Amino acid sequence: MPEPFPIDMRGATVRTAPHTTLTGPPAAMGGWPAFPEGLPFLYPRLPDADVLVEAVRGILESRQLTNGRIVRELEARAAEYLAVDYCIAVSSCTAGLMLVLRAADLSGNVILPSFTFTATAHGVAWNGLRPVFADVDPDTLTLSPAAAARATGVRASAILATHTFGTPCDVDALGEIAARNGLRLVYDAAHAFGSRHGQVPIGGFGDAEVFSLSPTKVLVAGEGGLIATNDHLLAERCRIGRDYANPGDYDCQFYGLNARMSELHAAVALASLDGLDARLARRTELAERYWSGLRSVPGISWPVVRDGDRSTYKDFTILVEPGEFGISAASLAEALRSEGVQTRRYYAPPVHAQRAYRDVPSTNGHLAVTERVAERVLTLPLWIDMSEEDVDLVVEAVRRIQAFASDGGVAPSDEDVVVIPDEESDRP
Ligand SMILES: Cc1ncc(COP(=O)(O)O)c(C=O)c1O
Repeated sequence: MPEPFPIDMRGATVRTAPHTTLTGPPAAMGGWPAFPEGLPFLYPRLPDADVLVEAVRGILESRQLTNGRIVRELEARAAEYLAVDYCIAVSSCTAGLMLVLRAADLSGNVILPSFTFTATAHGVAWNGLRPVFADVDPDTLTLSPAAAARATGVRASAILATHTFGTPCDVDALGEIAARNGLRLVYDAAHAFGSRHGQVPIGGFGDAEVFSLSPTKVLVAGEGGLIATNDHLLAERCRIGRDYANPGDYDCQFYGLNARMSELHAAVALASLDGLDARLARRTELAERYWSGLRSVPGISWPVVRDGDRSTYKDFTILVEPGEFGISAASLAEALRSEGVQTRRYYAPPVHAQRAYRDVPSTNGHLAVTERVAERVLTLPLWIDMSEEDVDLVVEAVRRIQAFASDGGVAPSDEDVVVIPDEESDRP
């Protein structure tokens, strides 16, 4: 195993080149940081304030603050964009997942990946269903159809797969496995509003797909979710389920929730729909720029989006092979922090290793790909107001850390020391 990166020398000789070219040692070794004022992990583009003020004025004048005309409009526009029959707005993706699984009247086991955000599993557990974790495909990092097929058994009633980072799952293979085994198929599409399988928008696959509209997503409501389905009965049950499962006569039909979306959140989401495709195109451009820069850095790879499919790149996650790169993903995260670059480690630890789920036995005894991947993931900043130069500088920072780490981590010399630029920056 390579040595951990010696990050505790930060600040030893903090002076190097103007921050557009990175000479000298990594910032963790006393070099000048790539982003002296910091590069945030996320800086969401939000709807125009004037548009929202007008919308809020209209809502206040209508005296209806929740689940009204604006929510209906959002549902109609989202259904059109996703090319589905029904869209039900809810208060979050987590609530949407809870509701869909309840509305589908499941029992026993639900097969899902462990390499996902915990809310996927919470939707299962909150319904009293048993999560059965199956491994992910090593290329796409989405639920492996072969692993899902192995996990089916007499007690399984559904598969719940995540379009992780916006990468579409293998929807054809999963659809076939679900049909063959008589299972319901639901997608956690939290990251995938705007993703496509071929020309078909994510949203219409399986029995239902559930999107998140929280601030880290490509379509933003503040907090919110959308359930998309072509199943009339499921749509009806989700619609009344979000309102305590009270169809209007106070004779509740099942254990529902208050998962309504407020008119105010719907107004933000409607405004956020404008310009969505341009934002997605920009995300793709930035992801491609990262790839072209990182391609030549030893030990760095990334999840594959299948030919013809489209990802939202909700997250730009890389995999760090410590033997080739020189240090682990966790150490690279620390070294980048010294460079002023905020990162996250999506998804480490995976769900089955988290305290809440540790007692749930996995299907095959172990989740080899999930565990390997979780040790190697690192998510880099990607937001549409980042410049090409920002991306190039992150790449340069990664490259210089790798060069330094593979060189045995030699301490900086005086030649590496340059002057700190002190000009003002307008970085957010
Ligand atoms: C894969 C996944 N599923 C579900 C959720 C939960 O979404 P929400 O915050 O809207 O409940 C998230 C949130 O980031 C997520 O990443």
